[in-house]
This record gives sequence, structure tokens and C-alpha cells, in this order.
Amino acid sequence: MTTKLWAGRFQKATDRLVEAFTASIQVDQRLARHDIVGSMVHARMLGRQAIIPTEDARSIATGLAEVWSDLDGGRSKFSSELEDVHMNVETLLGAKIGPVAGRLHTARSRNDQVATDIRLYFKEAAQATVSAIRALQSTLLDLAGEHLHTVFPGYTHLQRAQPVVLGHHLLAYFEMLERDAQRFEDAYRRGNALPLGAGALAGVPYPIDREWMATTLGFAALTTNSLDAVSDRDFLIEYEAAAALCIMHLSRFAEEIVLWSSGEFGFIELDDGFATGSSIMPQKKNPDVAELVRGKTGEIYGALLSLLTTMKGLPLAYNRDLQEDKAGFFRASDTLVACLEVFAPMLATMRVRPERARQAAEGGYSLATDLADYLVRQGLPFREAHHCVGALVHYALEQGKTFEQLSLGEFQQFSPLFGVDALDITTERSLEARTVPGGTAPTQVAAQLVSARLTLEHASVMDVPDYLPDRFLPPTDGL
Ligand code: ARG
Repeated sequence: MTTKLWAGRFQKATDRLVEAFTASIQVDQRLARHDIVGSMVHARMLGRQAIIPTEDARSIATGLAEVWSDLDGGRSKFSSELEDVHMNVETLLGAKIGPVAGRLHTARSRNDQVATDIRLYFKEAAQATVSAIRALQSTLLDLAGEHLHTVFPGYTHLQRAQPVVLGHHLLAYFEMLERDAQRFEDAYRRGNALPLGAGALAGVPYPIDREWMATTLGFAALTTNSLDAVSDRDFLIEYEAAAALCIMHLSRFAEEIVLWSSGEFGFIELDDGFATGSSIMPQKKNPDVAELVRGKTGEIYGALLSLLTTMKGLPLAYNRDLQEDKAGFFRASDTLVACLEVFAPMLATMRVRPERARQAAEGGYSLATDLADYLVRQGLPFREAHHCVGALVHYALEQGKTFEQLSLGEFQQFSPLFGVDALDITTERSLEARTVPGGTAPTQVAAQLVSARLTLEHASVMDVPDYLPDRFLPPTDGL
């Protein structure tokens, strides 16, 4: 049996059930690289501050880098008897460099250590998420550019409402994703602070240099209260809340893809590479990618609810409950990034069927509002114009005719204000008239596209260092 690093005050071995129940290595082994990098910088700092001998600091730091390359190359592995990633790494270090490894945990606790590890991981996850969002946004802009004039049905209540152009519809998702990206950036800014130095909860009684560690690890700030530092998981919750919003947006889009690709709508056809077949019905081509994106929403909402619930009754400061933060976060960030990454090429490769979209856009009397607006321009109050066109629609329905099939005389039965130019109201005119900022006129959508491109070009880049152990080795002439 391996001796536990904390076994000094214990007379009996841990019960096997307890060992299995409390172990987190299955989950937190993902933090090995972050743990090692954090420890390398901590050890170098201890040496620089003469808290431990320089030579020891150096052999700890270089030993840790070797522990990483052993793990990475499959030459060593973790043991669940050692509870978590921190104990495992320290034990592997001990096996490599001997008792000097015992100096690493000076002026540190697993509580500020794990808080540091998960923040490093969080920073990478936030960056991966934002860059996946940016890639999807860029796909949307390319598509919107191709469809500035593609007539598309606009819906309310999933009833045909007014025609729009497809580019406009796609840019709506650009806007949602822009807000999402900003939320992740915002969460990142707040989470980008170093907890090391908080110790178990009260701070440490050594002359440590927190600023140097923060700068070296690429943190923008230091946490300011040690009790808060070891028990704060707000940044994970903020990420998960932003993720919940983002997957909600993707799920809405996914739902539209499912509808649009159905026989009933037929506005798009997914590429064979982004659709799947049925094991029984040879004719089927299913939008499984979109359906799974919609389906995975539950997992991400679940992670948010789960962590909020874990946190809600916790007294200060660290409690073991906090160990439950990781699995949900890993799953939520993996899932969100995967959804974003598959969505972009699914959209880029789909085939739009403009004739079907136009047919739907022009059906359902979708120019009725334009006819009412015509009467308003002739001086009629909008309410009366609305009523008048409503009666006209009722008549046309009874006759089984579209607006285009009605004569001027029939129009005039409902209002003498209809002139021959009322017959000129077409889908194109309806679109072109909506030049209000944010409206669907192709000129307006083109302007929105230009400003969206600028937004994307000027989007801030998250400056997350590569947390690779070799980059954190001490310089040859010092620490
Ligand atoms: N595995 C633990 C976690 O994830 C590390 C911290 C353990 N600290 C402690 N005092 N038991 O939270």
C-alpha cells in the first residue's frame, strides 16, 4: 500500500470504500499539466525567495517537467490510491528526485493549488470556446454575404409572417454569438487571477512572491482575499452560465436546421457528410448533427444547475464538496466546443434551395402588411388599414386566390384608396422598403454585414500562454 502524504496522524488505513469514494483522480487527471506548471512556478519562487535552497528548487522544477514527459509519453501513470492529481504528481516527483520533493508543498495547500489548477484550465477552455465561436461567426458572415438577396420566409408563431432575406436571418445568429463571445471574455477577465498564497484558507507565513508567480503563469491579477480565493468557483459558474446561453442559441439554430431540411420546408439540403441514414428506411437522410446539438443542451444546463447547487450551502472556506466542480465543467466545455466546431462546417456545406424558400416566403399572404402600409401612405389610419386588408385576405382565401390573382376592382371593393400601383407591391419591393437600421432591406443587410466583419476583425484576442511544462523550466543561470 502506498503511504498517503497526509497519513501522519492516522493509525489505521483508509477504508477501501472511502478511498474509492473520495478519489478524484479519474476526473482531475486532466489537470496534470496545469498542476505541474503551477508547481514548477511555485517551486522556483520558493527558491528565488530563499524559502528553500536554490538547488532543491531547481531539481523540483526540472523533476516536475520530467514527470510530465513521463506521463505524456505513457511511461508512468496515476494510481487511485493516491486520491487526486496533486498527490499523484507529488508522489511521482518523489520517486524521481527523492526526499527533496518534500519541500515542494512549503507555503502551499492543496486548496490554493487546486484553485490555481482549475483556473489555468478554465483560461484555456474559455479561449478554446471563444475561438470556436469566432470561427462559427466567420462562417455565418460568408454565408450571409452569399445570401444578401435570397428571399426567405420570416416567421412569427411559426406562421409565415413577412419575407426577409436569408442573409438577415443568418446575421441574427451572428449577433447572438457575439453576445456569447463577450460573456465568455468577461468571465475570463474575472477568473484571470492567481489564488496561490491563500494557503489552506488564511494565507501563508512565508515571504512568498505572489506577483512574480502571477506574471510568470500569465495571470492578470492576484486574488485579494484568501478565504474567498480557496472557495470561489464563480468563474466556472459564469462560464457555465455563458455556455448555457450559447448552447440555447445553437439549439434554436439546430431546430431551424431540422425544420428547414424536412420535406415540408425543404429550404436546405444538408451535405451527405453532415447527415446520417436510417438502419431500416433506405430513403432517409437525417439531420442528426443538428438534433444532437439540440439534445446536448440538457447536459450543459445540467452542469450549471449542478455547480450552483453544490455551492449554495457551503460555509467558508474550502469544503470537499468543491471537488465536484470539475466533472461538470469539463463536460460542459468539451460539449460546447464540440457543438460549435461541428456546426460551422455543417452550415458551410449545406445547399440552400432558394426556389423553395421563395415559394414559402411568397405564400400565406405575407405581403398583407405591405398592403396595409400602402393604405396608410394614402392617409388611412393604420388600424383601419389593417382591418381593410384583413377583410381582403378573408375574401382571397374564400376565392382560393393569391393577392396577385385579384383584380384592381376586387381590391377596390375593400378600399377605394387602392390604386393600380397597389398591384406593384412585390416581395422585392417589400424587402427593399425595410431600410430601417437593423431591417431586412438588402442594402441594410449589406451594411450590417460590413459592421459585423469589423466587429470580428477587432475582436480582442485572449492571451492565454501555452501551459506546457518545458516553457516553465528555470533559466540556466538562475530560477
Ligand atoms: N481533490 C481536491 C479537490 O478537487 C483537492 C483539494 C483537496 N483539499 C483538501 N483539503 N482535501 O477539491
